Amino acid sequence: MDKPIKQICCIGAGYVGGPTMAVISLKCPDIKINIIDVNQERIDAWNSEDLSGLPIYEPGLKEIISKTRNKNLFFSTKIKESIESADMIFISVNTPTKSKGLGAGKASDLKWVEKSSRDVARFAKGHTIVVEKSTLPVRTAEVIQEILKSAESDSSKDNINFSVLSNPEFLSEGSAINDLLNPDRVLIGGDDKEAMISLSKIYKNWVTEDKILFTNIWSSELAKLTSNAFLAQRISSINSISAICEVTGADIREVSRAIGKDSRIGSKFLDSGPGFGGSCFKKDILNLVYLAEYFGLTEVANFWESVVEINSWHQKRISEIIVKKLFGTVANKKLVVLGFAFKANTNDTRESAAITICRNLLNEGANLVINDPKVSASQIEIDLKINSKISLDNENSSLNEESGSWEHSKNISNLEIFNDAYAIIILTEWEEFKKLNWKEIAKKMVHPAWVFDSRSIVDTDEIRDAGLSLWRLGDGLRD
Ligand code: UDX
Ligand code: UDX
Repeated sequence: MDKPIKQICCIGAGYVGGPTMAVISLKCPDIKINIIDVNQERIDAWNSEDLSGLPIYEPGLKEIISKTRNKNLFFSTKIKESIESADMIFISVNTPTKSKGLGAGKASDLKWVEKSSRDVARFAKGHTIVVEKSTLPVRTAEVIQEILKSAESDSSKDNINFSVLSNPEFLSEGSAINDLLNPDRVLIGGDDKEAMISLSKIYKNWVTEDKILFTNIWSSELAKLTSNAFLAQRISSINSISAICEVTGADIREVSRAIGKDSRIGSKFLDSGPGFGGSCFKKDILNLVYLAEYFGLTEVANFWESVVEINSWHQKRISEIIVKKLFGTVANKKLVVLGFAFKANTNDTRESAAITICRNLLNEGANLVINDPKVSASQIEIDLKINSKISLDNENSSLNEESGSWEHSKNISNLEIFNDAYAIIILTEWEEFKKLNWKEIAKKMVHPAWVFDSRSIVDTDEIRDAGLSLWRLGDGLRD
């Protein structure tokens, strides 16, 4: 008989754990959910009375939190009690790429997953279903199982046993709530059919049966990495073609539209941009690369590694174009950067192309003024100061002595930010950047003044009429 789930514990109140549990709490009012985290500050933010103080910005999230928080959804640091009382435990902790030791730069660091598994082994009671929610290297379930086995064989504990399932997240930041409410599929990997049915029953409260897929646990783990690798590969593919467009007179938007009409290819994930960012794509591909290398599949490893290499090259390419267009130097020139998040509708900057591009321009001596509707100055400071730990091209250098400066500007509506700027560089596709008054902006800039649009969001006629020079990614006619 499958086990009815009355209490859930989720370890990790981050971008994945928070929204996922919020949606489960909304759709399953009879299940009590405790989200726990080691970070007291984060938990306080989740519990803040003012819902704009939630630690994560995600459209639709605060509306759900306002309905379920302290009813059947609770945020705390009470690890022991929450694990003890749970029938099902989701592990949603972060798994960053290792910065040192075996597999450094590629393999995921599983120390938090291991710690969470040890906590589960220590405190769980009775039969507990443990669900891997974090994206993990293939065969991580084995690690979790092994740790849990030690608790099962501990004679001081009564009747304790575990089933480990893989249930990867496919939520995309900025549309996480919608992705959770209307998933393309829910993947459940495991070998304990009853546990799998218990988990599927939770999702069946709002997801139709045909979208719930059962696989073995390794297929589920690998499918998650492969999904992200395929999506990232499409972006590297289209970005590589944007470079060809620029030298041949083709236009990447027209090429994307034309190939996207082929139903075998499909139109999604074909927008050329400044290079993919986010916490998952690079990390997941590098995990795949590590796995392939580990099993001696060098050609496979090289194939996937090139997807990340093209992404880094592309960001460097954009930085170089900006410098070249500004007569070969940006030293002491004011450049306005619009957008710092790795995509619109999120405050997340992890692996954002803006970090690399801004650092490259700072290295060339530029004075940057950065605006992003959701990213704070303190976050930008952290990102621009720290060196990328997993850079493939070893560009770990700190800024050189002649490096430029940067400042944060909160407001673009009064247009003062554009005073005496030589160029505007659009790196994130926020709605507010699509509605700018280019005629007024042009009056404030130093001419010849440039707009570099890496997201294809500006109206080219408006820019031209305002007397501004425009560079768009993959626009061969303009170059
Ligand atoms: C994600 C996903 O879970 C993973 O699939 C993806 O590949 C990248 O990281 P995310 O929710 O985006 O996690 O990460 P983050 O926002 O950093 O949240 C993780 C939370 O776990 C943090 O709040 C951290 O404090 C917490 N944590 C970490 C614990 O509570 N216990 C630990 O031992 C470690
Ligand atoms: C991704 C996956 O989509 C999600 O399924 C997974 O579980 C987590 O990782 P996320 O990283 O939130 O989600 O964002 P996504 O929308 O996939 O975008 C990733 C990056 O690719 C962004 O930097 C985005 O700007 C870029 N991108 C996306 C493009 O450059 N062009 C596109 O056409 C689409």
